[in-house]
Amino acid sequence: MIKVGVVGANGKMGSEVVKLAISSPELKLVCAVDTNNIGKNIYNDVYIEGDLEAALKIHEIDVVVDFTQPATIFKNIETYIANNVKSVIGTTGLSDEQISKIKELSTQKNVGCFIAPNFSIGAILMMKFASEASKYFSNAEIIEFHHNQKKDAPSGTSIKTAQLMMKNNNNFKLGNCEETETIKGARGGNYNVEGNGNIQIHAVRMPGFVASQEVIFGSDGQILKIHHDTINRECYMPGVKIAVEHVYHNNNFVYGLENIL
Ligand SMILES: NC(=O)c1ccc[n+]([C@@H]2O[C@H](COP(=O)([O-])OP(=O)(O)OC[C@H]3O[C@@H](n4cnc5c(N)ncnc54)[C@H](O)[C@@H]3O)[C@@H](O)[C@H]2O)c1
Repeated sequence: MIKVGVVGANGKMGSEVVKLAISSPELKLVCAVDTNNIGKNIYNDVYIEGDLEAALKIHEIDVVVDFTQPATIFKNIETYIANNVKSVIGTTGLSDEQISKIKELSTQKNVGCFIAPNFSIGAILMMKFASEASKYFSNAEIIEFHHNQKKDAPSGTSIKTAQLMMKNNNNFKLGNCEETETIKGARGGNYNVEGNGNIQIHAVRMPGFVASQEVIFGSDGQILKIHHDTINRECYMPGVKIAVEHVYHNNNFVYGLENIL
């Protein structure tokens, strides 16, 4: 059995991971950490703890699963690696530079770290299809839709989608004329790496949504839309479990669930 610690255990995603660890015969919940509801009994003898580093030292944890918040995720990952604890990171909001730094740290210390901005299989397929379609279209934009509690924008999934699209087309066109924004931001944000990419990303935040994304491709006379809707958070759990099992058996750094499917 893989001994799992859940960080952000009190949150929307963390509480699903707690249920996963309790209900899967291959996993065992050994520790729960959150900055909220410290002391709350989660399951049997597992209580929410507030001190992450102390929890990593006290408990024998094979893999920690982190769904916390963008502001502190980089520091959390540094703590996992420094304490030789393998991690599965679902928290979004890491910059490209931070991801490179984590890859370096994880490789240097030989401590597995698995980061995925999206653990749902349907979303992975959406990204894969969008990447494939990029070979055939010169214009593409992404609209992502999330609940109004989401802290980072644009979503990690939309950035990851843009990166995968860039592998097949690194110079998308924008409009076909000189554009003026009469309201700043009306055309969204431009994902652009050293002059390459050029994909507009638009972020919608609204109650009612869990997470949805549409990738729109256009050329003369035709539009292709690739759309994915997350209805509830259970859809992420099979992907989280695959990642936990992967990192348990491997010491490498992985960014994106698509790399091991
Ligand atoms: N990778 C994916 O498939 C996926 C899917 C959904 C959400 N997310 C991301 O997961 C993260 C969490 O989302 P959520 O909807 O569960 O948020 P949430 O606000 O419901 O839960 C976050 C929890 O983390 C706790 N927390 C915050 N900082 C902490 C810290 N430093 N140490 C310990 N606990 C801390 C909070 O108290 C809260 O209980 C977000 O970044 C979100 O974008 C990723």
